[in-house]
Amino acid sequence: MDDRTRVVPPSNAPAAPMTRPAGASAKAMSRRRRFPTVYYLRRYARWRIPRFGFDATDGGAGTDGGIARNAASLDAIELMPRYGVDDGSCHMETELFGRRYSAPFGVAPMGMPGIVWPGAEKYLAQAAQRARVPYTAGTVASSTVEELAALAGDMLWFQLYRIAHEDHRYGFDLVKRAQAAGAHALVITMDVPLRTKRPREVRRGLVLPFRLDARTVIDVLSHPAWLVAYREHGLARFANYTGYVDNPTPERVAAFSQRSDQVGGGSFSWDEVKRYRDLWRGPVVLKGIMHPQDAAKAVSLGIDGIQVSNHGGRQVEGLPASIDVLPAIVAEVGDKATVLFDSGVRSGLDIVRALALGAKAAFAGKAFLYGLGALGGEGADYVIELFREEVRDTMRQVGINSITQARSIELRHPGAWRF
Ligand SMILES: Cc1cc2nc3c(=O)[nH]c(=O)nc-3n(C[C@H](O)[C@H](O)[C@H](O)COP(=O)(O)O)c2cc1C
Repeated sequence: MDDRTRVVPPSNAPAAPMTRPAGASAKAMSRRRRFPTVYYLRRYARWRIPRFGFDATDGGAGTDGGIARNAASLDAIELMPRYGVDDGSCHMETELFGRRYSAPFGVAPMGMPGIVWPGAEKYLAQAAQRARVPYTAGTVASSTVEELAALAGDMLWFQLYRIAHEDHRYGFDLVKRAQAAGAHALVITMDVPLRTKRPREVRRGLVLPFRLDARTVIDVLSHPAWLVAYREHGLARFANYTGYVDNPTPERVAAFSQRSDQVGGGSFSWDEVKRYRDLWRGPVVLKGIMHPQDAAKAVSLGIDGIQVSNHGGRQVEGLPASIDVLPAIVAEVGDKATVLFDSGVRSGLDIVRALALGAKAAFAGKAFLYGLGALGGEGADYVIELFREEVRDTMRQVGINSITQARSIELRHPGAWRF
């Protein structure tokens, strides 16, 4: 995405001069001044990390039209404020699948975020544990689910891609490992029947296994902060697969990943969903659902959560914005499952918009990577801090003081899909 969307700072940038929060250090104040919103983190990350890293996270399918549509549809939602009710309190604690979280948002699964910032998963897992928000470890993360469990603790969820060869032997094994490591929810990604073309990635020559060629070496050398992080954490890799491959060189592990894609593609059938449902002792979420009838089918199979998502515009640019299908899915599912949301979240205001439309929590992907790109490891904590502050400010501004009241916010949603 070039600066085609959100070309102006988001509307929730603080209007009043900043006041120094009690105990805030000079460094913290300077950071708040430089990066009042995710918009500014993205802008700085673009400059601070290698171009291949920025394009790998910021680029979507096609000409980034899906990313632009997610942003435009969220921006178009107007929340009606009510006054005279604010008593200064704001309770954003959220319960999901019987577990308490400190806020109504979490970290979406991201494979290979180490390309953007080496060690990204570890920083995100630690930050989520500190803040007590869900962290979703990915199948194709650069750290194993066991390593991430040690950092995320009881905030860990686990995302599954389809690994079908040998009748799901490895997929089942990975899920059992995630359960043994303590992951609370299993998140099954439905929306990747195949890996589609992302032109900005293609232009940077990003292929797996990831290698530093002459062009990328120059790119890296001109971004010294990234180089330091790379020397500490190494290259992005398929950490969860290494135990499944003899003599696991990067080439052999990448071949393992490709073999799986060749067996029926990446999309789970409903029968397969049921098999994983039966295997997992705990909540199962289907991620990437966009049609209410798919949500209804999931519920009929005993699925506990529906994560409405268009993969952040990374799979097909012509899909609806996921916020635009959220209300119909909430209406279809009712109280039979928990509806979660992602795709396009860049602020606490966006999170409250999703809650007002019936999601129980919203997840973000790219926003966290912009934070890491701009600030290194501390960026993960900082994005959580920004989101918390913006959720709080939006709630008080529209006149609610607890998350459970979000559904009562009156709103206008011009892009909403009717099925
Ligand atoms: C760099 C990157 C890698 C991703 N990898 C995965 C993945 O491995 N599995 C998955 O289900 N979703 C993956 N996603 C999609 C996110 O989970 C999420 O749906 C999306 O980022 C939400 O949109 P947003 O980036 O606008 O917040 C990835 C997203 C990004 C940006």
